[in-house]
Parts: sequence; C-alpha cells; structure tokens
Amino acid sequence: MAPADLPSPAPTSPFSLPVIRSSCILICSLVESYDLLLGRLDSLLPNRWQEVYGQLPRPTGSVDQLVAHFASRLDLTELDLVALSGAHTIGKAQCSAFSDRFGPREDGEFVQRLAANCSSDGERLQDLDIETPRAFDNAYYRNLVAGKGVLNSDKTLMNDPRTKELVEGFAADQWWWFFNQFGTSMKKVPLMYQAVPGRFGEIRRFGCFRRNSAPNQA
Ligand code: HEM
Repeated sequence: MAPADLPSPAPTSPFSLPVIRSSCILICSLVESYDLLLGRLDSLLPNRWQEVYGQLPRPTGSVDQLVAHFASRLDLTELDLVALSGAHTIGKAQCSAFSDRFGPREDGEFVQRLAANCSSDGERLQDLDIETPRAFDNAYYRNLVAGKGVLNSDKTLMNDPRTKELVEGFAADQWWWFFNQFGTSMKKVPLMYQAVPGRFGEIRRFGCFRRNSAPNQA
C-alpha cells in the first residue's frame, strides 16, 4: 500500500483520552491487556447487509484469498490473519458455514464427526474450538495442527507454508507469542474502515448506538 493511501490516525473522542489502557473484553482474565485507540468514525446509517456481507472473508476461502482480503484492508499481513483467526478459540458456527467440507470433498474421521453432528440437528451450533470452547487460549492452533479445524478457512491455514509455520508457532507458545501478537493485531483492526475512500460519519458523543443529532433515539 502506498503511503498516501494509508489512513490518517484514528480521530479521538472529546470524551476520552486518545489512548487508554483497555482490557480485552473478549475474554478478559487470561489475555494480556493492550492499548486501544478510542474515538472512531461511525457511519450515520446502518450498512445494508449486502454491503456488510460483501466485506467479510469467506469461510470457504483459500489462504491466498484470505491473505488478499486482509491485505486489502489496511495492510493486514499473514501474521495478522493467523493471529486474529485465533479469536475462533471461542464461539460457535452454524453448520452451513462449514458444510462445504462434507461429502466427496473430504472424508476424514474429524469431518465425519462434524457431519454427523450436523445431520442429527441441522440447527445445531458447532464450537469452533473443539477442545476448550470457553477459554481464550491457544487450543485453536493446537487443534489445527491436529487436523481439527472446523471452518475451511481455519483448516486451510495448515495447508500453506506461510501460515502453517505461524499456526505451529502459536500452538507452541501461548503466552509470549500468541497473546502478545493477538493484542498487536487487534489494535490495527479499528483503523481498517478509515481506509475506505469517501466514507463519512461521526465520532459518537453520547454512546455507540446514538447519533449525535438524535441522542435520544436508539
Ligand atoms: C480469517 C477470516 C475469518 C473468517 C472466514 C471467519 C468466519 C467466521 C464464521 C463463518 C463464523 C461462524 C458464524 C456463524 O455461523 O454464525 C465465525 C464466527 C466467529 N468469528 Fe470469525 N472469521 C474470520 C475471522 C475472524 C476474526 C478476525 C475475528 C475476531 C478478531 C473473528 C471472531 C469470530 C467469533 C468470536 C466467532 C463466534 C461468534 C459466535 O459464537 O456468535 N473471526 N467466523
């Protein structure tokens, strides 16, 4: 990305210090805390779902597609891709998010288990981290090394030497590498949208869900 294309630093809210010490609210207790910039431009209207959907990476994506997707948004690197994918150490997915893996495409024991789970109840949600779904830890990466990634976009990180090495590194080093890198990469995320040309909005003064011009309307 050319320097001229880089977004300006996140604007700061008059209601907050430019940078404060903030804990990761995802799962607070275990993760190293990291600084977050506060005050960012929020759009005045909700995005249409088609636009939101169009901006999300696909769970069926290959490493090349995922890397390109992250690179097109503020220079997020392969390292950021692998570190941020570690958020899948918590949370669940609908079967439709990974059912592309069933059938002739893949027939390993783990995929069969996923398919059986979905066939008994298509509405059932699948833990993305099959070992410790409620803990923010590096089990997600250890699962990937063991061939137990749920989404294709998770599993495929082991198929490319660029990302495989990073997965193995995070699997081997939770505290010093994964937790630190997760914080570093998360700090880049709020800057992503300001890279979109022509985007406009406002820095919210009365709360995230209230427009400055109509603070009493949710
Ligand atoms: C690498 C590209 C990514 C892809 C393709 C992807 C895809 C998905 C999909 C398909 C789901 C399941 C949604 C559902 O079925 O309702 C999901 C869940 C989730 N993702 Fe990602 N994701 C990616 C990156 C990220 C990042 C960067 C984060 C945060 C830093 C993240 C955090 C989560 C969380 C927390 C859940 C669980 C949501 C819940 O339980 O309700 N993902 N992701």
